[in-house]
Amino acid sequence: SKKDIAVLVGSLRQASINLKLARAMQKVAPDGLNLEIVPIGDLPLYNQDLETETPPAEWTSFRERIRACDGAIFVTPEYNRSVPAALKNAIEVGSRPFGKSVWDHKPGAVTGASPGLIGGAAAALQLRVILTNINVPTMPQPEVYLGTADKLVGDHGIFLNEGTQKFIESFLAAFESWVARF
Ligand code: FNR
Repeated sequence: SKKDIAVLVGSLRQASINLKLARAMQKVAPDGLNLEIVPIGDLPLYNQDLETETPPAEWTSFRERIRACDGAIFVTPEYNRSVPAALKNAIEVGSRPFGKSVWDHKPGAVTGASPGLIGGAAAALQLRVILTNINVPTMPQPEVYLGTADKLVGDHGIFLNEGTQKFIESFLAAFESWVARF
């Protein structure tokens, strides 16, 4: 049966290049993977005071959604050489209450896109450290940090050249094998 993969996009804006990359990944995903974008923009900021018998409904549904998935792909821009707050917040929401983290043992992969040349590699490296802490076994290679991504990924999930599409296909094939190991 198909593996259920949650895709977390670190940018909340509608015209996000990372959202475009996530959509393009969905279109070229191998048969064995179903990629679903899980929204993170409506999650209230993590606050331990809200961690009561009835935490915010958005937290609960996000936690249930991540708990149910077989793996997660993070597609994120770099903000100030680091992980955007919205994505860090989603990670924190999923990591609590203590001892009940939904991330534990979920295989993951880190990708990102930027209109600049470097492709958000600094944020991706920081994200890898965070994922180590929450026990997400993160695929080491291949890494996808797409620079000049606005020239490589168009609207409606379309890759603008064949080389980029092949690169993403090989990344997803590797991730399918990675997920199968857990
Ligand atoms: C950025 N951007 C950026 N780019 C980068 O390569 N390194 C960086 O440290 C930053 N820092 C940064 C901070 C903030 C607050 C913003 C809003 C932007 C530029 C960023 O890569 C660019 O805006 C991307 O287009 C954002 O990704 P989405 O929204 O297109 O997915």
